[in-house]
Amino acid sequence: MPLVTGSAILKAAKKGGYAVGAFNANNLESVKAVLETCDEMDAPVILQVSQGAIQYAGLHYATAMVKAGAENVKVPVALHLDHGTSFEQNCQCLAAGFTSLMYDGSKEPYEKNVETTALIARVAHAAGVPVEAELGLVPRIEDFTVSAEDMDRLRKGECSSIYDCLSAEEQKKVDDWCTKPELAKDFHDRTQCDSLAVAIGAIHGMEGQGARLNLDLLQKLMDAVDIPFVLHAASGIALDDVKAACTMGVCKVNVATRISMELIRGTKQRLEEKPKQKDFRKVFDLGMTYIAEAIREYVTLFGAAGKAYTAGWAAGAMPDIDRSDSPE
Ligand code: G3H
Ligand code: ZN
Repeated sequence: MPLVTGSAILKAAKKGGYAVGAFNANNLESVKAVLETCDEMDAPVILQVSQGAIQYAGLHYATAMVKAGAENVKVPVALHLDHGTSFEQNCQCLAAGFTSLMYDGSKEPYEKNVETTALIARVAHAAGVPVEAELGLVPRIEDFTVSAEDMDRLRKGECSSIYDCLSAEEQKKVDDWCTKPELAKDFHDRTQCDSLAVAIGAIHGMEGQGARLNLDLLQKLMDAVDIPFVLHAASGIALDDVKAACTMGVCKVNVATRISMELIRGTKQRLEEKPKQKDFRKVFDLGMTYIAEAIREYVTLFGAAGKAYTAGWAAGAMPDIDRSDSPE
């Protein structure tokens, strides 16, 4: 069906008590594997375009790929900008037909994050499109200065918590970056963001599931503001914590590194088995199968299987703009 808005997807998830997977759209193989698996599981899904995907494929290709993919499946699909960098980039994505936006002002001072998020929300809302914001900072693995050995352990998730692989100084960084509950209400009141990405212990780009979440902090944040919460960097989070966060009411879970690794794992295996293969189209099938297995695992964990048809989606529905004060 045609793309639906991110707000329709997240509102249904919040009401239904499940989370929707947000998987990165990087190439045809990953988009097809994600959409076909969600279609088979009757699960709503968000395909998101990252900064890396914009550099790799370009906005036009990435957008066209997701739109075409969504039209090929029966389940609702939203097209989301992941970690948008500016007001201008959000406007470009809005014009390109994205049905969900994000501004990541996590590295900006608080007031600047509020100002830019609020401006984007004002423009996006006029077009019926929701905006995700980031409060606190979900770090990337490269944001840490640790020995090569500790970096390797951190990357592979070989620690009982990420703190095990970090010096006291680096541990303090994680604590400082965590989302502050006392700012959440002010941030939401002033920006009118539609969903909130929170920093509660995860790190982007981990390959093993060694990060533990601060679920007490998540509860405090949820008590402070009643909007859909977004969990970033889920590739590196222990699965029982992902499940606990979804049970507590997280509505969107972002997974990227795991999907990329599955495509690489399967493709390497195929090339080892058939080193003389000259048709490149025949080397991706196993990687796509591995992506499908990962999606099945996550979608089941999120509780989103079978939820595609519970929200009364209207195929081709216009974005849900509030027209209450529109002239007849
Ligand atoms: O915004 C993207 C996600 O947070 C993905 O992070 O690659 O660590 O799963 P990940
Ligand atoms: Zn992220």
